[in-house]
Amino acid sequence: MTSATIESVLQEDRLFEPSPEFVKQANVSGMAAYQALCDEAERDFEGFWGRMAREQLLWHRPFAKVLNESNAPFFKWFEDGEINASYNCLERHLKTQPEKTAIIFEADDGKVTRISYRQLYHKVCQLANALKAHGVKKGDRVLIYMPMSIEVVTAMQACARIGATHSVVFGGFSAKSLHERILDAGATEVITADGQLRGGREIPLKAAVDEAFAMGGCEGVKNVIVYRRTGSKVEMRAPRDKWWHEVVQGQSDTCEPTWVGAEHPLFILYTSGSTGKPKGVQHSTGGYLLQAMLTMRWVFDHKPTDVFWCTADVGWVTGHTYITYGPLAVGATEVMFEGVPTYPNAGRFWKIIQDHKVSVFYTAPTAIRSLIKAGPDLPKKYDLSSLRILGTVGEPINPEAWMWYYKTVGKERCPIVDTWWQTETGSQLISPLPGVHALKPGSCTQPLPGIMAAIVDETGQEVPKGKGGILVIKRPWPAMIRTIWGDPQRFKNGYYPQDFKGKYYLAGDGASRDQNGYFTIMGRIDDVLNVAGHRLGTMEIESALVANPLVAEAAVVGRPDEMTGEAICAFVVLKQARPAGDAAHKIAGDLREWVGKEIGPIAKPKDIRFGDNLPKTRSGKIMRRLLRSIAKGEEITQDVSTLENPAILEQIKQVA
Ligand code: WTA
Repeated sequence: MTSATIESVLQEDRLFEPSPEFVKQANVSGMAAYQALCDEAERDFEGFWGRMAREQLLWHRPFAKVLNESNAPFFKWFEDGEINASYNCLERHLKTQPEKTAIIFEADDGKVTRISYRQLYHKVCQLANALKAHGVKKGDRVLIYMPMSIEVVTAMQACARIGATHSVVFGGFSAKSLHERILDAGATEVITADGQLRGGREIPLKAAVDEAFAMGGCEGVKNVIVYRRTGSKVEMRAPRDKWWHEVVQGQSDTCEPTWVGAEHPLFILYTSGSTGKPKGVQHSTGGYLLQAMLTMRWVFDHKPTDVFWCTADVGWVTGHTYITYGPLAVGATEVMFEGVPTYPNAGRFWKIIQDHKVSVFYTAPTAIRSLIKAGPDLPKKYDLSSLRILGTVGEPINPEAWMWYYKTVGKERCPIVDTWWQTETGSQLISPLPGVHALKPGSCTQPLPGIMAAIVDETGQEVPKGKGGILVIKRPWPAMIRTIWGDPQRFKNGYYPQDFKGKYYLAGDGASRDQNGYFTIMGRIDDVLNVAGHRLGTMEIESALVANPLVAEAAVVGRPDEMTGEAICAFVVLKQARPAGDAAHKIAGDLREWVGKEIGPIAKPKDIRFGDNLPKTRSGKIMRRLLRSIAKGEEITQDVSTLENPAILEQIKQVA
């Protein structure tokens, strides 16, 4: 663990109370109602979660035991209960609201497709039957590499229906990343598309799958199902590759759900950690779905009349919880968008809100900042009066962006829920409730009922209010990560470290708490960067760089960036002489492309600096703190007397 007590730097005193009208209609109405839920969880932790699980979920076989802690930190929730996630998202609405629109899909080019709960149910069942016909069984892993589409939700739901564990790989990841995940998950089936359309451009997907297969070792994959999205020519290799529209042809449009234990792995989602290897975060079925639903009701105050829109890609956890599972389980109508916020112009998000009368809008601070830059007054051109709640996720939101979001988008009417959570937490854990909390820009306010969050120092002692420290969760929660796929030891050591006697979940974030008990997240305390709300390990990028034949050594750090929150800075030593001028510029460009191919375009370093060496102590340790100062362009005031070769400091001040 790094860093001593982190000082809280933000001084923010503005508070924005919810209106009395909002409070009155809210699902959790007022502070006393919130407090009552928190107290119930404090008083009777298992009773509280048991009640929630019985009220929210449809169980095939009811559970008797709420929480099993005997093999901590491998906690088990509702272990003896049987359930199916897809049944909970689809069948439950077939009697009550079959014709309600489940998804309003807007394509990159503006074409809109609507699908009702009944239609979605049949579509999911057909694909589920096709998967069964391929021999996919309960517990098998299906890798999904698809564009934003009704079909990707269908694919995930079809897996859930037959008890197969899905692993979605973000369409922006490279063939190399895809290959690594196919192997690590041991996938037997891949579902992809010919390509995806974003901002008027086509990005091939099937070709990347072919490239991944060419890297070898994918013999375990028996079938590749290809959804035709763009119509571009792709190579179909028989008998492995099959068109989606052909495999579903003739399949029955009903399919009995496969009942699974509540602990059955619903999905694996790969995320970055502080080592080079991405980790497969494994989630459960019952506990995960419970909190996906509860947060829809508590945090997004879900009402049957809402039009919900989460702008995240399904390749990230936000898309899993707040596109594929949460909204469908509560029977929402949700918008799903294929494209990018700036195409055909920077008014696209506002136009979508206007056209589909979106009432609850959930996006990332990066998107907000880039839209401010693209046109701070653009929202005024659109009718945004349908909005009632705004949300953010993925990174700290700076108070200026918060104020703009609040005033220009929400017209000072809409509470902003700044939701803190992680791939590992499965659902939001710390967030204002819109009918409860007075909002403070930049603060995610208080933990949700049943979430025992605290800020501690390195010895595990809680720090006094007003001080910063390490964010931990003291008790397990139903939607939490169950293990790292294939590496339980890494789960245990990484998230339940001995520093805290293995008792606290270590989130990896620094945080502070003000006098009101409001939390503010200050960023990662490990070697994980947060670029535009996407987690990237510095080691992952370093490994990608040193895999290039030109590179001898590389170190990667983050620096603050106005738009993306953090930007990636790489310090590189080549096997050849240190390049300068145009040559340096050219090699930097090539290295960026290289990293794009190795991991994906999001991992391309913004700044690349070349040195004859990296700054190291005499014992050979890279002085990362120093690199961070240089990356920020700060004057170096720290002690460099332990530096092996002080002359290189001048070299690495130059950005290539
Ligand atoms: C950061 C995204 C500040 C944090 C759901 C966390 C946030 C990491 C917030 C998880 C927030 C997420 N305020 N920081 N509201 N939400 N983060 O796994 O550093 O992609 O650890 O999950 O994003 O990113 P992940």
